[in-house]
Amino acid sequence: MARTFSARAVAGWSEATERIAAGLLDDLLAGTRRGDTVDLVAGWAAQVPVRVVSAILGLPLDTAPELRRWADSAAAALDTGVPWERFAEIEADLAEMQRWLRGRLAERQPGDDLLSRLTAQGGLDDDALVVLVTFLVAAGIETTTHLLSAGAETLVAQPGLAAALRAEPDLWTGAVEELLRLEPPVARAARRATRDVEMRGHTVARGTLVLVHLAAANRDPAVFAEPAAFDPARPNARAHLSFSLGAHHCLGAGLARVEGRAGLRVLAERLAAFAPAGPVPWRTTQLVRGRAALPLRLR
Ligand code: HEM
Repeated sequence: MARTFSARAVAGWSEATERIAAGLLDDLLAGTRRGDTVDLVAGWAAQVPVRVVSAILGLPLDTAPELRRWADSAAAALDTGVPWERFAEIEADLAEMQRWLRGRLAERQPGDDLLSRLTAQGGLDDDALVVLVTFLVAAGIETTTHLLSAGAETLVAQPGLAAALRAEPDLWTGAVEELLRLEPPVARAARRATRDVEMRGHTVARGTLVLVHLAAANRDPAVFAEPAAFDPARPNARAHLSFSLGAHHCLGAGLARVEGRAGLRVLAERLAAFAPAGPVPWRTTQLVRGRAALPLRLR
């Protein structure tokens, strides 16, 4: 897993991501007319990571029409205080996704993909592979979707920023870090204290569940000058906590950055096609946060 998601390996997905992002925009715009409204989340931001993760896994996740609903439920499963009715829906959705995955795993042909390599190494049965794929869907799809749609809304709202990025492509790295910092797709993480911990005069007792607000830390004025400003040239733009810290630091951070830069670069080239089209609804989940849709009018 670590080898597949290493910085070197994921850099190799940049071109493929650009092709995928461009092809999806072509599909989205095909057959539309000036004045039509399109949803850039359903038609683009949600599809780019599905196709990239499918290619990495060697599993056609994009052929499941229910995938967005499943990914939404997988993200909601991470929340605390989920009402019982929603919890029952989440369980049913994840069970349905796992049945679908079992079918696809059974049809698979060996290749040079992650699942084939893990299978060839041995030690993982289909149950383990289903769990692993479920986890990657939960961790890698909805999150990257939110990064891309945050970027899309920002670029559409600020054509001057898009022009600056086209003129100075080196700024893309900082721009994606600023999107991650200001609009973290994972707003918080949870930890359970394994011992009593003293913090700033408070004792966190062993066994306490601690919700860590990554989104708040990302706007800490002691770390980031003018924390609310979007500044792609910020020298410490990477100091945000959007991929968390420590043993559970995001395994897919490198891939998410590659997808964010490549996908948004492609979108920035075609920005002239789009104008904002009214209110942007957000998902109601607490931990994984982002837009449910991004309606845009075609110029
Ligand atoms: C913008 C996109 C993403 C964001 C913001 C994000 C954020 C995070 C965060 C905050 C954690 C740690 C949670 C904690 O500390 O409890 C995490 C863990 C993880 N992420 Fe991501 N992630 C993103 C994309 C991805 C992608 C693309 C993949 C893989 C395809 C991925 C795979 C994982 C895995 C496997 C873990 C668990 C690591 C562990 O517990 O050892 N993530 N992610």
